[in-house]
Amino acid sequence: MVLSDLCARLIRDVPDYPEPGVVFKDITPLLVNGPAFAAVIKHLADIARAAGGIDLVAGMEARGFIIGAPVATELGIGFVPVRKAGKLPGVTMEASYDLEYGSATVELLPDTIAPGSRVLIVDDVLATGGTAAATASLIEQAGGIVVGLAFLLELTFLPGRSRLAGRPVDVILSVD
Ligand code: PRP
Ligand code: HPA
Repeated sequence: MVLSDLCARLIRDVPDYPEPGVVFKDITPLLVNGPAFAAVIKHLADIARAAGGIDLVAGMEARGFIIGAPVATELGIGFVPVRKAGKLPGVTMEASYDLEYGSATVELLPDTIAPGSRVLIVDDVLATGGTAAATASLIEQAGGIVVGLAFLLELTFLPGRSRLAGRPVDVILSVD
């Protein structure tokens, strides 16, 4: 089966979560399906290989850790955790943004990225693009080069891609 079709079958809609009016796309059924999860990781790693010369994968807490860290190990490279506010020790860099529901701040330890490192950002969902845009700007402030962004799922009724205009974006599945 085509990977996007498999993902579509294994991502479920949860109405009115986390607040009324939002139809939440839940990737849990995909994560618990071993072959499907492995195929997603392999596909995202292939995107990185095609981009070439990636030094690091960066992923955003929490679901970006679930997807991004195995992509990094598949590639044999390091993983940069981009965390929610207050979770990283010492001096951090931070960026705040609005979400589909609520707002958030992400943080990065500046010394995790050597200047000039080529970084692929990996997350589960591209929705408004706020998380991804904030992450890209943090990586660049730290001296890294954002080579591209790769997602399992894109919600095309939200303006994620336009927030990332000019950056290479790959997704396995787009839904509207
Ligand atoms: C979700 C998702 C992405 C982000 C996408 O994370 O995992 O990181 O929202 O939304 P955006 O494109 O509108 O920024 P969330 O902040 O809900 O945290 P979680 O991974 O801890 O559930
Ligand atoms: N599902 C999962 N993550 C999300 C969503 C969603 O619908 N919107 C923003 N992040």
